[in-house]
Amino acid sequence: MDIPVNVLILAAGLGTRMKSKRAKVLHKAGGRTLIEHVVATAAALTPAERIIVVVGHQAERVKETVGGSGVRFVEQPEQKGTAHAVQVCREAVGDGDSLVVVLYGDCPLLGAGTMAKLVAHQRGSTAAVTLLTAEPEDPTGYGRVLRGPGGGVEAVVEQKAATPDQLAVREVNAGIYCFRGELLWTHLGEIRPENPAGEFYLTDIVSVFRRAGLGVEAVSHPDARELLGINTRVELAEADRVLRERTVRRLMLDGVSIDRPETVTIDCQVRIGRDTAVGPFVQILGDTRIGEDCRIGACSIIQDSTLADRVVVAPLTLVAESRLDEDVQVGPFARLRPGNHLEAGARAGNFVEMKKARLGAGSKAMHLAYLGDAVIGSQVNIGAGAITCNYDGAHKHQTSIGDGAFVGSNSTLVAPVAIGAGSYVGAASVVTKEVPEDALAIGRARQQNKLGWAKRRRRGQRG
Ligand code: UD1
Ligand code: CA
Repeated sequence: MDIPVNVLILAAGLGTRMKSKRAKVLHKAGGRTLIEHVVATAAALTPAERIIVVVGHQAERVKETVGGSGVRFVEQPEQKGTAHAVQVCREAVGDGDSLVVVLYGDCPLLGAGTMAKLVAHQRGSTAAVTLLTAEPEDPTGYGRVLRGPGGGVEAVVEQKAATPDQLAVREVNAGIYCFRGELLWTHLGEIRPENPAGEFYLTDIVSVFRRAGLGVEAVSHPDARELLGINTRVELAEADRVLRERTVRRLMLDGVSIDRPETVTIDCQVRIGRDTAVGPFVQILGDTRIGEDCRIGACSIIQDSTLADRVVVAPLTLVAESRLDEDVQVGPFARLRPGNHLEAGARAGNFVEMKKARLGAGSKAMHLAYLGDAVIGSQVNIGAGAITCNYDGAHKHQTSIGDGAFVGSNSTLVAPVAIGAGSYVGAASVVTKEVPEDALAIGRARQQNKLGWAKRRRRGQRG
């Protein structure tokens, strides 16, 4: 049987070069934190209980972010370098023969296939370690791989410690290693912090192994982009771009039409059904599910929402934390703040704002309405400019509107208030009391016409 694989993900550093209060691995690319990407990749290779994440800076937040995946955590309260980060995992890994993969929490583009290739190489070899190398166009910042006259890997030298000749080397250490466990633990303690930074560099294990007469092998990876380690916000933006390209490509191959795909922003966990069409400059974010045959109009933003089949979101519409059932139509220029449920066939048109409101099946609010903290039945018509006054300055109150009611334009429904099923509210009424079923409510000043008044005024007369 194959010996098991343990994966150590180093994620304790602050990430000084990000110039951020937030720990580096908590920054997002492609809609997910860096650490979530790396954990997901590792989980494709080995069971979660064999994955150990080394945490330090903002340890609690990192744990919260990936705790649900079942991985284990080890604390490294003081970050003395990547070798020290591995050392603190010694006990958690335990005894017994295993391969130990070490990778860094800042490489979100790494694919599971590449990791599997590295592990497969080490399984078939007698070397103490196999490392992954690449030749990026600009090797600045990476450790350089030094090879001996026979072509074998002799050492990795860090940017800060390298001579000008060594800096000219194009082949770099990707920061992903597969060790024979027992040899790692035997020799790790031999690494000394003898470098300008005074850190224990894991990369020094290469020369330690070579001095002990042990083999070091390298698998060179053709696509250096995949191994990008994020140190700055510039690299973060680059990773974000690559991840979004991958997401959009996957969706299109799965049957989603995307107009001008280079302009859309879709988070990697979003799911979209076949024959749905996404317009230019759309953003679809967070935990969003969209069904089949939907249309998402240009420049709309949909976040943490669920859209059933055949939903139309017209251009320039915002939908947040809401549920839209089959055949719902919203926008253009609608704003759905969190907590709405629009039932089958309901419509919210231009300049309609909704918050914590339920709009029943077939009900319509086509223009300029505000519906907040409201439960609205089916086949209701909400006229242009009608609003629920849900806030009295101290508390929020509910409005309920029964099935088939007709709320005239510019009505002001002062909550808490109930409008009965089948009733009418006359245009521009201020409704402060319950409207019984099937009644007509009129709450406004009666119109008077003063004949000839305007003409007299123009002539300078009054009254
Ligand atoms: C590292 C490698 C370099 C390689 C590059 C690839 C070392 C010494 N250098 O450099 O050869 O080319 O990655 O991207 O390993 N960390 C801890 N505890 C610590 C120190 C670091 O958990 O004490 C974590 C950091 O949070 C980070 C990861 O290890 O996620 C890598 O550290 P980083 O400082 O980014 O290393 P690089 O300078 O990029
Ligand atoms: Ca790095």
